[in-house]
Amino acid sequence: MRNVLILPGDGIGPEVTEQCIKIIDLINSKSKNVIKYQRALFGGASIDDCGEPLSKKVLDIAMKSDAVFLGAVGGPKWETMEHDLKPEKGLLTLRKELQTFANLRPGKVFSSLASASSLRPEILNGTDIFVVRELTGGIYFGEPRFSKEIDGKRIASNPLIYNEDEIARVAKSAFEIARKRNKKVTSLDKANVLEVMQLWRDVVTEVHENAYSDIELEHLYIDNAAMQVIKRPSTFDVILASNLFGDIISDEVAELTGSLGMLPSASIGESKAIYEPVHGSAPDIAGQNIANPIAAILSLAMMYKYSFNEDNISDKIDQAITEVLDEGNRTRDISTDNNNVLNCNQMGDLIVSKLEQKL
Ligand code: IPM
Ligand code: MG
Repeated sequence: MRNVLILPGDGIGPEVTEQCIKIIDLINSKSKNVIKYQRALFGGASIDDCGEPLSKKVLDIAMKSDAVFLGAVGGPKWETMEHDLKPEKGLLTLRKELQTFANLRPGKVFSSLASASSLRPEILNGTDIFVVRELTGGIYFGEPRFSKEIDGKRIASNPLIYNEDEIARVAKSAFEIARKRNKKVTSLDKANVLEVMQLWRDVVTEVHENAYSDIELEHLYIDNAAMQVIKRPSTFDVILASNLFGDIISDEVAELTGSLGMLPSASIGESKAIYEPVHGSAPDIAGQNIANPIAAILSLAMMYKYSFNEDNISDKIDQAITEVLDEGNRTRDISTDNNNVLNCNQMGDLIVSKLEQKL
């Protein structure tokens, strides 16, 4: 039996997650390896219920589950709360507790959607970037962190710290992924200014020399990378980055693909994994049934692949999405002419029926 904890979360999280549950139900009805799932409150929804974004009870269930599926967290309602009580803190604690140190964010351009990108098609052509982001260290977790007042002046600090093991394990993940793709890793740092980023560059180079010399390795400073990704997106394969740089560059990659609503993610550790769309809670469109559920459904496909080794099912979900898009179906965010725009539910149902024909 496979146990999955589903955390719909906030904003558009619940709407897009419901589309994924329809897909799990469909696959369960056709397969022997059934996924047993339960839903729980998380983020702002959990704060409203019990005062904290991730309750001990929910964390315990997550620790015992084979995988966690997450919709999105956060929203204006909780933005002014103290840092440690915010919805985002629940997400960071979950990542840290489950030790999901490698965050995988594939940014493939669907050819039928190339016109929705802000880049010209001839520049975008052939772009298929896979971001590997370190997720449980760096500036997000550096100690001592504080925000206080000294002599009447406000001062705050978040140290950026990495040790060599934290860098080496995520570098290995990136090289392994590159080996199954186009055998190139671009590692992002700021080694010209920061000691910790020099360490990043040194360790990535050592891991490369020791075990992955069949892979091409390129180092770029983050500022230059931000430019090169826009200028020559199709020349990148795997991008390896620290927690903060990876957070930033993955949104940039998302925009290249035509919509943030298309980008899935998997956060993988030694034994645990979290799957979530990259887009976040999008409070401005929440509750209106107009969100794009594709990033969430692609994240579910990653769950079948990475947690349950069901590459076959995963590929079929991907194919169902590609076909639905090729037939011209669009949600609002990826529509270029606003004709026949589907809502979240309708897009989910179309993908379900397309997948049903394949199972
Ligand atoms: C992401 C998000 C999160 C992050 C937030 C919601 C904490 O931006 O997953 O990219 O910064 O990691
Ligand atoms: Mg982000």
